[in-house]
Amino acid sequence: MDNLDKINKVVELILESNNITALTGAGVSAESGISTFRDKNGLWSKFSPLELASIEGFMANPERVWSWYQYRVNIINNSNPNDGHFALAELQKIHKNFSLVTQNVDGLHQKAGSENVIELHGSIIRNKCFDCNQIHEESVINNESLNNCKACNGLIRPDVVWFGEMLPEKEIKLAQDLSFQSDVFLSIGTSAEVYPAADLPLIAKRNGAVVVEVNPELTQLSDYVDIKIELKSGEAMPLILEEYKKRINK
Ligand code: OAD
Repeated sequence: MDNLDKINKVVELILESNNITALTGAGVSAESGISTFRDKNGLWSKFSPLELASIEGFMANPERVWSWYQYRVNIINNSNPNDGHFALAELQKIHKNFSLVTQNVDGLHQKAGSENVIELHGSIIRNKCFDCNQIHEESVINNESLNNCKACNGLIRPDVVWFGEMLPEKEIKLAQDLSFQSDVFLSIGTSAEVYPAADLPLIAKRNGAVVVEVNPELTQLSDYVDIKIELKSGEAMPLILEEYKKRINK
């Protein structure tokens, strides 16, 4: 089957499906100019996750961590959603039960119009207090007075999940339930290497879902999927959307 045949097959599955869950990763934002983590020139090939994405790294050098996050926030603030994000947002609007779970912290799904996005790894745009978890929407790095939480004087940090940390409980539980209930599961632009997110397609598969992967490269998941579309998200998702709209006369 070539990629277009596979897209037609996926559309047929979507037409018959009651519950679809899509899990996205950094690859979905690559066409918006945001670096992925594990590709050849990805962030983890240039930066140390232990220094920049762990509690220990933050405690050792908060200024270094803040300046890296500020660098990434600046890139994200100057980026726009791409055709993949827009197609996912529209699919969600026209399918009765389409849930979007993301590992991305860049907010581009929401910018493209997706609603109720389940953010498993937090958001780089928000900050929070280490001690009392109060959310701080303001940018911290440019404002000394924000470095300590107004509520409890604790240290403020980016509201993202770092290595060794638990995922937000409500979000991961909801994502697991949705994966369990889904009859079609789409894994888009993720290397499927980071758990527990990487378990979601397997939960879906064990419970009878058809699992589809959209990724130009092979991943840890590729051997287990039912359909592998070897295209970029910004190519595949608009093709799926257009074919789906044609079939439902929208
Ligand atoms: P990775 O960098 O691990 O994987 C990105 C995947 O996207 C790779 O498999 C690429 O082949 C694929 N890809 C690249 N461009 C693409 C495109 N245009 N369309 C479709 N796929 C494309 O990123 P994630 O799987 O998201 O954690 O990484 C998971 C987590 O690891 C991240 O959320 C981050 C990181 O440490 C935290 O920040 C907590």
